[in-house]
Amino acid sequence: MTDNDNIIDIPSLQWYPGHMRKAERLVKENLKLVDVVVELLDARIPMSSANPVLREIVGGKPRLIVLNKADLADETMTRAWVKYFAWQGITAVPVDAVKGRGVKELVQAIAKCAKPKTDKLVQHGAKARAARCMILGIPNVGKSSLINRLSGGTKTKVENRPGVTRAKQWIRLGAQLELLDMPGILWPKFEDQQAALHLAFTGAINDNVYDVAGVVLLLLDTLRTKYPVVLSERFRLEGELPSGVMLLEEIGRKRGCLRAGGKINYEKTEQIILTDFRSGRFGRITLDVLPTDSST
Ligand code: G4P
Repeated sequence: MTDNDNIIDIPSLQWYPGHMRKAERLVKENLKLVDVVVELLDARIPMSSANPVLREIVGGKPRLIVLNKADLADETMTRAWVKYFAWQGITAVPVDAVKGRGVKELVQAIAKCAKPKTDKLVQHGAKARAARCMILGIPNVGKSSLINRLSGGTKTKVENRPGVTRAKQWIRLGAQLELLDMPGILWPKFEDQQAALHLAFTGAINDNVYDVAGVVLLLLDTLRTKYPVVLSERFRLEGELPSGVMLLEEIGRKRGCLRAGGKINYEKTEQIILTDFRSGRFGRITLDVLPTDSST
């Protein structure tokens, strides 16, 4: 990242302390029902999309990570993130919940992760039963998409509003595995400004709660620094890329985002840039870099 010091203010949406406590309580209640928790992270931002207190909430319960939206992330970086988590003793599985890539591997990994617990139950004289797991993650990370995928396409409406309770249902995945059809919805790292910015870039935070113009300029700045060729090719820009508003205007002109009198339509240009980035039209990009303490 370059000059993201002039950071944006992203309010905490609907996540007030009361909501956070309630969400945490709901997750804790459901934790008792499962053998493994499956934490969904966005493969483009594995750090920024993590919940700041998940480790505390989950305690000693076996945990597995899904690097979802892997189809939008840089493959080399995803492999590095998988290694990083392995180094921490956590299995991470890259998944595309929309197309279903990685889902088979995920089911196998969950079963493996739960095995010590289910084997132990049997050793203690209990009847053998399927491993049970639940899915946790911040809004928009792909929880309902993954549950739908795992359940073979049965529509699952997942409510993002914190504190929503529903009758518990289990989705059977073969004879060995059961998934709680009620994801735990957790809050992201709003306090961490860099994380908040990455959440805004990727669309994890609703656009109407922050200054879109400021965020787009920072996204352009990031792309210009890290992926100048990608940016030039996408918008057919020639020569050295200008910075700041001049770059935005250049893209606006190239895209024909003009108002009467030839003035740039900034809002339209900003929307094009955000949509292109979020849908992967710039290519596969990972924004979060590995922590420096990793041995990958
Ligand atoms: P949530 O339950 O965690 O809140 O997330 P949800 O499954 O609703 O997914 C949020 C958005 O992310 C959806 O797009 C969904 O299609 C997309 N998505 C989920 N998993 C993946 C993935 O692995 N790859 C890609 N590329 N996209 C993914 P949307 O535009 O909000 O809705 P829709 O129009 O696609 O239904």
